Amino acid sequence: MIEQEMDFENRIVSPEYNYSDEETELSLRPKTLSEYIGQDKVKDNLSIYIKAALQRHESLDHVLLYGPPGLGKTTLSGIIAREMGVNLRVTSGPAIEKQGDLVAILTSLNEGDVLFIDEIHRLSRNVEEILYPAMEDFSLDIILGKGPSARSIRLDVPHFTLVGATTRSGQLTAPLRDRFGVLLRLELYTPEQLSLIIIRSAGILGIDIEKDGALEIASRSRGTPRIANRLLKRVRDIAQVEFDGRITESVARKALSRFEIDELGLDDFDRKMLTTIIKNYGGGPVGLDTLAAAMGEEAVTIEDVYEPYLMQIGFLTRTARGRCVTPLAYEHLDMPQNPNSRQQSIF
Ligand code: ADE
Repeated sequence: MIEQEMDFENRIVSPEYNYSDEETELSLRPKTLSEYIGQDKVKDNLSIYIKAALQRHESLDHVLLYGPPGLGKTTLSGIIAREMGVNLRVTSGPAIEKQGDLVAILTSLNEGDVLFIDEIHRLSRNVEEILYPAMEDFSLDIILGKGPSARSIRLDVPHFTLVGATTRSGQLTAPLRDRFGVLLRLELYTPEQLSLIIIRSAGILGIDIEKDGALEIASRSRGTPRIANRLLKRVRDIAQVEFDGRITESVARKALSRFEIDELGLDDFDRKMLTTIIKNYGGGPVGLDTLAAAMGEEAVTIEDVYEPYLMQIGFLTRTARGRCVTPLAYEHLDMPQNPNSRQQSIF
């Protein structure tokens, strides 16, 4: 049976932003491309496009950033604005409810400004329609009045750069996706990159940490800087209260096992999901919606938040018929593989 009492909203390894991140996330955010660790392909491309736009005295083309949560999409939009020498305006798809909300934002921008829309796939159709001419011709078609006396006026808006962020580019409507000149995919970070981020953050926060301590935290951070920085702060608390304040490998290990995060960064939810597929569905394939119902979680959350890391470490595969647990995962969970499982029978 599925237990319902797990507090998934507050899992320490959730890549989604929570309020405990607020105090430090701002101070830890890199402000320039050269300070930004990892995502080398994205950085290389962006730096060329920014240089070229600056040389031509033009605004940067619209940029779509996509990839799992917690990888630095908001941070990158701040860097783009700073490197272009313009202001940044931050909003999100769900926050723009009416066409008028977007018109107000667009008409208040200055020439060249960056408008960052997080979760851009959640814009309503109505609002999206205002965005198309704004992105393409920097103009707005506004309808005044209703019925036969309604008339449309065209309004110019400053040349701005839209930076849109989404967890998957496939969630965007085709007309919106087509209006972005630059599409950049963010990838999960390697433990080595994350340990550099942790060492940088520890420097800013005045935390005493050894290289191996940083790598230990990094290996359990699911490829996600937001999780790495959160774990760093929690490990620091334990290092300070129960040890001499210095984060060594052994201190990090003891602290992290206290949070029930295993050596690969898996928590209760991950293990529960893998064992549910194994016990209830013979290791898979199981359809996403069935799995989501069994876990009491939304299908999109499973797909965007939990699966990317499990797939990255080779514990889960997506097939046309559904999700399958791999032999590696059985091994990690110390569970025997059933030779008659449904998964075996389809290969
Ligand atoms: N803090 C969070 N993400 C970072 C990154 N990619 N580089 C440096 N510091 C970070």
